[in-house]
Amino acid sequence: MINFRKRHFLSQLTGLAVCSVANGVQARVTPSQSLGPFYPIKLPLDSNADLTFVEGKKGTASGHIVNLSGQVFSENGGFVPRALIEIWQCDAFGAYHHPRDGGGLDPFFQGYGKAITDDEGRYRFRTIKPVAYPGRAPHIHLRISSNSKELITQIYVRGNRENQNDFLLNSISDETARQSLIIPFEKDSMDASDELIAIFNPVIT
Ligand SMILES: [Fe+2]
Repeated sequence: MINFRKRHFLSQLTGLAVCSVANGVQARVTPSQSLGPFYPIKLPLDSNADLTFVEGKKGTASGHIVNLSGQVFSENGGFVPRALIEIWQCDAFGAYHHPRDGGGLDPFFQGYGKAITDDEGRYRFRTIKPVAYPGRAPHIHLRISSNSKELITQIYVRGNRENQNDFLLNSISDETARQSLIIPFEKDSMDASDELIAIFNPVIT
């Protein structure tokens, strides 16, 4: 049984319009970041693109809901259709749903989700705005796989002062490359709800 909220979210996928980073020209490959220790050992039974709801549980995730979307590009500026995108992040209380981190604190947060890009490389997730945990600025992990190509990286919240001290983010010495992982999480002026939007257009090689 699929609940209304999830059905509404899924129905939005088909009409999605996102910004494109290029018109056939895009050279800058998105920098990679480490996988980290919290990639799931075993994927959750519910691992779809809506991380704010766990199938079979009567509740929704704590945190500020964000609709994360974008398009995956190749180095030559073309779309990458049918790429697998996985994301994972800690819950609103700073805990990963992973045995190494106590299994998580929010039972209504999915912790991990995956999506397949459409014919024009577009994807979309519904999740929460990432929060900090000790030693790290707020971030969302991503793994993008397409045939023999793979990009593992992390995205960060623009304007967050913890970015300045995050060792992993600042291990990218090139300013433009580093900034490409820091994206706005902002309110959608077209949406009366409190939800945020964030757009990330990765380039894989
Ligand atoms: Fe992390």
